[in-house]
Amino acid sequence: MFCMILPLRADERNWLPPGSMTDITRDPPAELIRQDTVRDKQWLYGRLLFHSPALLGERAVRIGLSCNSCHTNGHINADFYIEGLSDRPGRVDVTHRFWQAGFDDGKDNPLDIPTLRGIRDSAPYGTAVRLPDLPSFTRHVIVTEFAGPEPNSGDLDALIHYLASLMDTPPAHADEAQQSGPETSYLTLLAGPVETENFHEVDRLYELIRSDYGRRIAKMDTIPASLRNEVTLLKSLHEKAAADDFAAARVSYQALIARQ
Ligand code: HEC
Repeated sequence: MFCMILPLRADERNWLPPGSMTDITRDPPAELIRQDTVRDKQWLYGRLLFHSPALLGERAVRIGLSCNSCHTNGHINADFYIEGLSDRPGRVDVTHRFWQAGFDDGKDNPLDIPTLRGIRDSAPYGTAVRLPDLPSFTRHVIVTEFAGPEPNSGDLDALIHYLASLMDTPPAHADEAQQSGPETSYLTLLAGPVETENFHEVDRLYELIRSDYGRRIAKMDTIPASLRNEVTLLKSLHEKAAADDFAAARVSYQALIARQ
């Protein structure tokens, strides 16, 4: 039962040419968040999407690729390498038919993965295609480069909200930027849809949060019992909401939050 949340590592690898490396192997760069950022639900949801392959196309989903795979913590994954698409680590061709049939420029043109630190203030965006604002470039990345589904406006707004919170340069004093804690709990995002008994929303968040647990667990040697329990509770919340028993789903939600 539990193993269903584990990503299929071996399968994922099969979708990548041998010699590829999409995980960061060195210490990841710090996630630098502007001091004035309010970590509200929209920001949290944007951050969840940034880490989620579901936002990108089918190819990306199969190899478990998200914005964060390349722009790790809003900066650069200098180890990123896909055989045939990269000429050296940290560079990748995002206009290659590997991503989709429709938008192949026929050229072999890997580019440096750019940092997204300070991205709010560095318009226009892109090299091959230049677009004036962040929402249109982000949509271009999702839909055109990675052949993802058209993002709804709520998702796009949340993602932009997160991107805009990324600070440009590491501050001289550590206390000038908010460093993210080791884990940011996405569970609070479920409060609204559980309360309003919106199963569609619960279902979508459940899939996103479950796959986030999967990514965290994949990096662990042993899975702590507390985390196992959390996943079990999350699963039961989803089951109860699916059965339209929102009173019970609320109880599961309270139990989950009480653990944080
Ligand atoms: C496979 C690696 C990869 C993934 C996944 C990826 N990007 Fe990028 N990104 C790149 C590369 C390479 C460029 C440079 C392309 C260019 O300039 O046209 C880029 C450029 C950008 C830029 C423009 C930066 C600038 O300074 O002009 C933004 C914004 C951006 N990406 C956001 C995102 C978001 C948001 C996601 C997820 C929805 C994402 N990227 C997913 C590799 C990636």
